Amino acid sequence: MTNGTLGFYSSAELREAARRRLPRGLFEFMDRGNDDEIAMRDNRRALEAIKLRPRVLVDVSARSQEITLFGRSRAMPVIVAPTGSAGLAWYEGEIALARAAAAFGIPYTMAASSMTALERVPAEAGGTPWFQFYMWPDRPASHRLIARARDAGFEALVFTVDTPVAPGREYNLKAGFTIPFRFTARNVTDILAHPRWLFGVLARYLVTTGMPRYMNFPPETQTRLTSLPMGRSTALDNTLTWEDVRELRRLWPRKLVVKGIQHPADALLAADCGADAVVISNHGGRVLDASPAPILTLPRVVDAVKGRIAIIVDSGFNRGAHVVKALALGADAVMIGRAPLHGTAAAGEAGARRALQIYRDEIDRVMGLIGCTSVAQLSRDHAVMPCEGGGAACQGH
Ligand SMILES: Cc1cc2nc3c(=O)[nH]c(=O)nc-3n(C[C@H](O)[C@H](O)[C@H](O)COP(=O)(O)O)c2cc1C
Repeated sequence: MTNGTLGFYSSAELREAARRRLPRGLFEFMDRGNDDEIAMRDNRRALEAIKLRPRVLVDVSARSQEITLFGRSRAMPVIVAPTGSAGLAWYEGEIALARAAAAFGIPYTMAASSMTALERVPAEAGGTPWFQFYMWPDRPASHRLIARARDAGFEALVFTVDTPVAPGREYNLKAGFTIPFRFTARNVTDILAHPRWLFGVLARYLVTTGMPRYMNFPPETQTRLTSLPMGRSTALDNTLTWEDVRELRRLWPRKLVVKGIQHPADALLAADCGADAVVISNHGGRVLDASPAPILTLPRVVDAVKGRIAIIVDSGFNRGAHVVKALALGADAVMIGRAPLHGTAAAGEAGARRALQIYRDEIDRVMGLIGCTSVAQLSRDHAVMPCEGGGAACQGH
C-alpha cells in the first residue's frame, strides 16, 4: 500500500486484521471483556446513544485538535492506554506503540506488565511516555520499580486502582491462555494455525531474549510466561487504600494519574491526595462487568472536580466521534486501549500509526461537521444526552 492506509479504513478493520493474525486465545485476551461482557456492550451503547448537535454556517476551514495537558501541548486529545502484554501482539510491540504515539505528538502509557524493559521506551521512542503500574504486596519492590520509571524520565506515573482482585475471564481459562502459560493440545494447535505470529513474534523472542517474560518485574520473580506462578510478592494487592496514593505523591516527583475511578467522590479523594489527573474507566469492560459506562459518569465527575485536576476518560472509544463526545462533556483527553493494540497486532508500528491516523482524521472531520475549529469551542451544548429524548436509555443515568 503506498497511500499510507495499509488498506485499513477504520478501527474495526484493524481489529479484524488482528483477529486473523493472532492465535485465537491471545486475540481473546486482548479483545474481550469479562463475565457476560455486559460492560463492554454498555460502553459502546452509551457512546452511540449520545449525539452531537451541529452548529452550521461557521467557517471551519482552519481546524485544530491540539490540547494542553499538564502544561504541555499535545497534537491530539488522545492518549494511548496501558495494555499489558502488548509485546505479544508484535515483537517488541511496546516500542512500536511508543514510537507511533511519539510520531503523533501524544503520550504512550507503558504498562509495567510488559515484555520490554521500561528504560527502552523513552530511550528508543522519545516522545512523552507515561508509566502505569499496579502496586505489588512487596512495597519495596514497587518503590524500586517507580524509581526506575522516574530515572528513565517518564512524564507521568499512572496508578491503576480498579483491580483489587483478579477479574473473571472464563475464555482465557478455556483457551489455556493463562499465566503461567501451559502448553495444551488446544493452544498448541491454535498457535500452529497462526504461523505469521509464531514466526514473526514468538520465534523472534526465542532466538533473541528467550521465552517472553515480564521484564520489569523484580529479577527474582521475573520468570518466563511458561514458568510457575510468580508468587505473592508481585500479585494483585487487595489491601490498598488512599494512603497509598498519598505515599506515591511523596515518592513520585512528576505528574501522578489515578486510573480506574468510577465515583465522583473518589475523584475528589484523588485530588485531595495530590493526584494531577484521574482516568474514569471501567478498564474497557474487563474488570467489573456490572459497572456503568464511563462516558455517563463523566459529567458528574466534571461537576464535582470543578477543574481542580485533569479528567481523562476511557473504555469503548472506538471512533473519533466518541472522543469528540467526551471532550464536549468536559473530558480533558481520552485514552484508547484496544484500537492501537489491534493496529500493532495487524502491522507493528505502521499499524499503530494507522490506528492513530484514523482517530486523527475522524476527530478532524467530526469537528468540522459540528462547526468547531478548536477543542476549546466544544461544550455540553454540542452533546445531546439520551435522557433529553426520554425513554429506556435514560434509566439509571
Ligand atoms: C489487552 C489489554 C491489556 C490491558 N492491560 C492493562 C494494564 O496492564 N493496566 C491498566 O491499567 N489497564 C490495562 N488495560 C485497560 C486499558 O488501559 C484501558 O483502560 C481500556 O483498554 C480502555 O478501553 P478500550 O480498549 O475500549 O479503549 C488493558 C486493556 C487491554 C485490552
